[in-house]
Amino acid sequence: MTSQPQNIHPTLHRILPRSDKEKLLHQRGLCVWMTGLSGSGKTAIAIELERMLIDSGRLTQVLDGDNVRMGINSDLGFTEEHRTENVRRIAEVTRLFVNCGIVTICCFISPTQIIRQLAKAIIGEEDYLEVFISTPLSVCEQRDVKGLYRKARAGEIKNFTGLDAPFEPPASDFIDVPTPDRSVEECATQILDAIRQRIAFVDSYNS
Ligand code: ADX
Repeated sequence: MTSQPQNIHPTLHRILPRSDKEKLLHQRGLCVWMTGLSGSGKTAIAIELERMLIDSGRLTQVLDGDNVRMGINSDLGFTEEHRTENVRRIAEVTRLFVNCGIVTICCFISPTQIIRQLAKAIIGEEDYLEVFISTPLSVCEQRDVKGLYRKARAGEIKNFTGLDAPFEPPASDFIDVPTPDRSVEECATQILDAIRQRIAFVDSYNS
């Protein structure tokens, strides 16, 4: 889908460094990458986490599949190729946000190990924290907040994740956030506790 750029002259070395923005914001940039089935609660938890972070003075941005697919990725569907391109573009956008020192919470099904590895490679391992919203398929389907599981079961939606398209749970290096019998606030607090140290400003740039 992408071709090799030509006649391009990047000026990244002339743009002010990330450290200047982090100093200004008094925080460290980080990507919290949420993966999980449709209806698992990614966006609800992200919005709660964003509220908690903003309340504690941290500049934060949520990026989620449904919103991004209305704009920058409105040309993409749900084949494996399109999902990969969806995540590739959003990972590039996330890198820009993180380089501005912003805590960026990404909510994308990102259903396979390879797709998530791509995101991690683009964003950078040290700036990427994977969070698995591990709500089981049966619970997502029972909740069916958007009515999509019913449509998919009726054959009105093809390639639906968890039904006729795969979802591979993370295998290593991730935080597991189960949602059954827990409130959105509890789940968001679990993530907040996990990132508190990583987003704290350390003035190591002068030392
Ligand atoms: S991803 O697989 O490419 O990461 P993304 O997170 O952007 O997916 O979009 C998922 C959202 O798109 C779902 O929450 C749901 O609202 C909607 N959707 C529409 N069709 C599908 C489908 N076939 N599979 C999964 N989600 C779908």
